[in-house]
Amino acid sequence: MRMSDLIEKKKCGLAHTREEIDFLIHGLVREAEPIPDYQISAWLMAVYFRGMTDEEIFYLTDAMARSGDMTDLSALGEMTVDKHSTGGVGDKTTLIVAPIVATLGATVAKMSGRGLGFTGGTVDKLEAIPGFCTVLSRDEFLAQCKTHGIAVVGQSGNLAPADKKLYALRDVTATVDSIPLIASSIMSKKLAAGAKSIVLDVKVGSGAFMKDTASARSLAQKMVAIGKAAERSMAAILTNMDIPLGFAIGNALEVKEAVAVLEGKGPRDLTEVSLTLASEMLSLSLHIQAEEAREKCLSVIADGSAKRKLCEMVRAQGGDASYIEDTEKFPRAETVCKVLSPEDGYLSHMDAEKIGIASSLLGAGREKKEDLLDMTAGIVLCRKTGDYVKKGDILAELHTSTRDTRSAEETFLSALAFSGIQPEPAKLIYEIVR
Ligand code: URA
Repeated sequence: MRMSDLIEKKKCGLAHTREEIDFLIHGLVREAEPIPDYQISAWLMAVYFRGMTDEEIFYLTDAMARSGDMTDLSALGEMTVDKHSTGGVGDKTTLIVAPIVATLGATVAKMSGRGLGFTGGTVDKLEAIPGFCTVLSRDEFLAQCKTHGIAVVGQSGNLAPADKKLYALRDVTATVDSIPLIASSIMSKKLAAGAKSIVLDVKVGSGAFMKDTASARSLAQKMVAIGKAAERSMAAILTNMDIPLGFAIGNALEVKEAVAVLEGKGPRDLTEVSLTLASEMLSLSLHIQAEEAREKCLSVIADGSAKRKLCEMVRAQGGDASYIEDTEKFPRAETVCKVLSPEDGYLSHMDAEKIGIASSLLGAGREKKEDLLDMTAGIVLCRKTGDYVKKGDILAELHTSTRDTRSAEETFLSALAFSGIQPEPAKLIYEIVR
């Protein structure tokens, strides 16, 4: 088999066999004489324009998943469940849904990522809790899941290494925004992470990869089909990312807001998305209807047991759970600057991506992998799309201990649009693909 023949085949819009895809992925990751980047890049561009059949997407995902360690969670039983968000601004749902579903008997054995660019990452948020360790050995990870039903750690270095290589090439060859390539990239890591049930939060809007519901639906359907072909129970929820989720953006600020949801005092939008995700996770792993699952989720918020489960996980991973018991212990940023409205009118649009960038400029996110984070940094929104504001009203607070706030303030204001007409209320959950 020759790589040039595979490029030719895809260039002509023909479908690859399983053997051809395996050849490509093995050739990509082998140490001795790997397939050169220029050939892989040419093939990626051919896929970008010609697409892939559902069968090819499954073969590609499966080969990428098997290119590294496959986590074996069989010792944890049948009720292992995972969730994945395609990435958004202010998305702290993992910190909420993981303890909720673990309290109710499902096992959350979760590997999460770090933030890059304008999106945050769960691992960074957890590291805002003093002492919290996101690196566990495989045995420690499994033992914690067995004892506590919950562990959230960083992705191991050898999880789907083929995806790491392909993603790096996609990033520099303008081939990231291809549905077959995004679906196989996300699902290869989820399959390798080993859970029996997987719920996907596919974000739609200005702060997401997918800017419209049609492409988000198509991505969701492909990922659900891949998971089912790999014998996993699957659901995908299309949720709004035109507006940041909740009011808090930034690591410690988001942990505080997540705890508020577990105390029954969180923002309406964040609570609703979290309850929908948690209900689907529970419904798949306990084989119950989503409505019954939702009632159970509400009950463990009301009786405080979900918050206690988060404290239990924090303690098990070496963190100081007193910060969860009383979130006022999180240090406040040295500088807190108020952003005032420049005019009267309805807030008619918030560009979630720009707000994420403003938060990064305050020190909450990274531009490069090696950048250090300011855990106190971020934005607290005081007004959101649909609200009426008067000139001089406070729109948001910018928090930072390490940066000047000027460029963040400019970026934040450039994310907003005002209008004399009240905008239609935005939908929060578009649909569920099961
Ligand atoms: N997230 C991933 O892991 N892969 C993609 O291709 C896009 C988003």
